[in-house]
Amino acid sequence: MNLRRTIIVRCSGWFLRWFHQSRRTRSEAVKLSGSTALITGANRGLGRHFAAELLERGATKIYATARNPEQIDLPGVEVLPLDITDPEAVAAAARAAADVDLLINNAGISVPQSLITGDLDLIRRELETHFFGTLSMTRAFAPVLATNGGGAILNILSVLSWLGFAGAGGYAAAKAAQWSLTDTTRLELAAQGTQVSAAILAATDTDMMAGYDVPKNNPADVVRTTLNALEEGQLEILVDEAAATTKANLSADVHTRYPNLA
Ligand SMILES: NC(=O)c1ccc[n+]([C@@H]2O[C@H](COP(=O)([O-])OP(=O)(O)OC[C@H]3O[C@@H](n4cnc5c(N)ncnc54)[C@H](OP(=O)(O)O)[C@@H]3O)[C@@H](O)[C@H]2O)c1
Repeated sequence: MNLRRTIIVRCSGWFLRWFHQSRRTRSEAVKLSGSTALITGANRGLGRHFAAELLERGATKIYATARNPEQIDLPGVEVLPLDITDPEAVAAAARAAADVDLLINNAGISVPQSLITGDLDLIRRELETHFFGTLSMTRAFAPVLATNGGGAILNILSVLSWLGFAGAGGYAAAKAAQWSLTDTTRLELAAQGTQVSAAILAATDTDMMAGYDVPKNNPADVVRTTLNALEEGQLEILVDEAAATTKANLSADVHTRYPNLA
């Protein structure tokens, strides 16, 4: 085969794969009504709002999971015990919820520590939860989603995925790592038709932000905006203005991103 013919064949193959993938994305967008969802950390905060809103939107079944399942008080959901940092619990959840077509990786912790002087075990815990916990859930549920037609994964990220924050550097690093895994798992799961989306948001009024006297999003609004965008097929959901600004500033000079730097 001469060079010209090789290039034409390769380009046609690439175009057909792209065309097939983009058609599948358009025709098999996430449909929340009739979906079967699993939400981590569904006993409170954003996770509980996701479960309530999905019920509202006609999801067929919702697995509301929590480290302490007795804390789940939402009628109409299937309750499962799940600590996302426990590999056996993750595997058991994937066996128990084999009909899932939407996985919401919501569970998270924030244990504000200085990266220089803070407790290294707590910082490690943030990485264990946001990065390894999310990864472990994604790996366990990838085959489940494939069996159920591809489906979708929604990861809950933060503006701190894109911004360092003195005093919460472990959380910011963990959320940055979770952003990176979101991008790569999206690439790896494209072939099985799984939409991997991320919601990026700033301070929201949940227990996680209870100690901070700053303007906060209403969690119910965050969840509604996120689910609307998920259903539209958006891959990177900029939930609020701070998320849009932080994203726009990503390529800015370091002094623009951190104006307090001397
Ligand atoms: N609130 C914000 O300002 C904000 C902003 C950006 C992004 N986010 C992200 O949004 C997500 C939800 O946070 P939130 O604001 O709703 O916080 P929250 O009210 O503190 O709730 C956190 C949830 O995660 C659960 N969780 C923590 N570690 C877990 C583990 N190892 N296994 C299973 N569940 C675990 C908690 O369970 P327990 O009850 O057992 O502790 C709780 O249900 C997090 O990923 C967070 O990083 C929040």
